[in-house]
Amino acid sequence: MNRGKTDVRDVIARLDLQPHVEGGYFRRTFQADQRAMLQTAGGPRYLMTSIYYLLTEDSPVGQFHFNQSDILHFYHLGDPIEYSMIHADGSLETLVMGNDILAGQHLQMHVPGGIWKASRLLNGEHGFGLISEAVSPGFDFADMEMGDRRQLIARFPQHRMLIKKLTRDGD
Ligand code: GUN
Repeated sequence: MNRGKTDVRDVIARLDLQPHVEGGYFRRTFQADQRAMLQTAGGPRYLMTSIYYLLTEDSPVGQFHFNQSDILHFYHLGDPIEYSMIHADGSLETLVMGNDILAGQHLQMHVPGGIWKASRLLNGEHGFGLISEAVSPGFDFADMEMGDRRQLIARFPQHRMLIKKLTRDGD
């Protein structure tokens, strides 16, 4: 049955998502609390955590942020999402998650810990894009840093325009 265009508010309600500090919406779906915690340099962490993550026309950008953990991303629904990743050596990697795999879009993406990542909803018919992330060692705000626009531009001046587009603070 064709239900017509999906209303993103129904997706947010059905999946019980909340606004994320990076932009977009999320809900934690799993934490490995049946297993021993991992001892990391930053303290004990779950072996793995998982979230839904949604970008919408109203909140289309996941701002640049840094994570210590490896993150596997799995694409689900909607419009494609463009990822910008700045590595420690300043090199930029761009990748699109989406279901048009024959056009080179990705259903899965591994982002190693220790890089800066931002995401942006691309134009499409749905007005939202939905993925999941599996994070190991499990997500903890102590392992995550939101990008400060001035500091990021000072460190990676060659990516000034991109950083301006995908951070919210500063001038
Ligand atoms: N980003 C990736 N995983 C998580 C999580 O579990 N919580 C939050 N707030 N952000 C995340």
